[in-house]
Amino acid sequence: MGSKIGFIGAGNMGGAIIGGICKAGKYSPDDIFVYEKSDAAAKKIKDEYGVNICADIKYAAEKSEILIFAVKPNILYDVIAETKQYIKDGTAVVSIAAGQSIEKISCAFNKKLKIMRVMPNTPALVGEGMSALSPNDELLNDAAKIDEIKEIFSALGKALIVPESMMDAVTGVSGSAPAYVFMFIEALADAAVKAGMYRKDSYIFAAQAVLGSAKMVLETGKHPAELKDMVCSPAGTTIEAVEALEKYGFRNAVMQAVDTCVKKSREM
Ligand SMILES: NC(=O)c1ccc[n+]([C@@H]2O[C@H](COP(=O)([O-])OP(=O)(O)OC[C@H]3O[C@@H](n4cnc5c(N)ncnc54)[C@H](OP(=O)(O)O)[C@@H]3O)[C@@H](O)[C@H]2O)c1
Repeated sequence: MGSKIGFIGAGNMGGAIIGGICKAGKYSPDDIFVYEKSDAAAKKIKDEYGVNICADIKYAAEKSEILIFAVKPNILYDVIAETKQYIKDGTAVVSIAAGQSIEKISCAFNKKLKIMRVMPNTPALVGEGMSALSPNDELLNDAAKIDEIKEIFSALGKALIVPESMMDAVTGVSGSAPAYVFMFIEALADAAVKAGMYRKDSYIFAAQAVLGSAKMVLETGKHPAELKDMVCSPAGTTIEAVEALEKYGFRNAVMQAVDTCVKKSREM
C-alpha cells in the first residue's frame, strides 16, 4: 500500500475504481492523480472524492507509481503513445481494456515495464465486481506491487490472479456473465408477472433470489448441486421446476453461451 496511483480516464470503470479505493479509505485523495479528457467526468470525480485532477497526461504519468489506463480499447494505443515517455522507472502499468493482451500492450510501450492486465466486470460499479488479474514477467518479480494492485481491485469486489491464458475463460464466466444473469432475472420476473405479481415487486424478488443464492455458494463453500438438492423436497414444487429446466435445456443453453463467448474472445 501507499503508492501514488494515476488514472488515465475516469469514466464508468475508472470512476468505479477511484470510488472503491477512496471509500475503502486505503488511499488519501492526495495520492490519486487523474487525467480525464471529459471535463464533466473530471468535475464529478473531483467533487465526489477530492482527488487531484491533472491538467495534462505528463503530470499524471510522472506522479504515478501505479498507472491505470481506463480508456476504451479503441484509443488505448494512442493514449499509451502519448504517455509512455513520462512513465518513471519502476512504475507498474495496469490496463483494464477488454481483449488487449499483455504482449500488445508491452509492444506499444516498446520498453520493459511492469504490466498488469485486468478484466473487471460491471458489478464493480456497485462494489460486487469480479476482477481477474494477470501480471507480466517483469511484474512477477515485484510481489508487493502485485499485492497492492490486487488490493485496489479487491475494493471493487473480488480479485484473483490468473495466468493470462485464462482471460478468455474469464470473459465467458464473469466478464460477460452479468448480461446472462440479467436475462435470467428478467425471465424470472416476467414469469412472476404472468403469475400475477406487480412488475416492480417481481424484479426485487428475482434479483434478491439470485443475490442470495450467489452468496450461499460463496459463503457455505457447498457444491451448487448440494445447495440445489437442499431446496428440492420430495414431490415438491421445486423439483417440478428443476425438471422443466432440464427438459428445456437450461444448463446446456448456459454452457453453449459461455462456450460461444470464450471462442469469440479467442478470435479477437
Ligand atoms: N464498463 C464495463 O463494463 C467494462 C468492463 C470491463 C472492462 N472495461 C474496460 O474499461 C475501459 C474503460 O471503459 P469505461 O466503460 O469506463 O469507458 P468510459 O466510461 O467511456 O470511460 C473512459 C473515459 O476516458 C475518457 N477519455 C477518452 N480519451 C481520453 C484520453 N486521451 N485521456 C484521458 N481520458 C480519456 C473518456 O472521455 P470521453 O467520454 O470524453 O471520451 C471517458 O470519460 C475499457 O477499456 C473497457 O474495455 C469496461
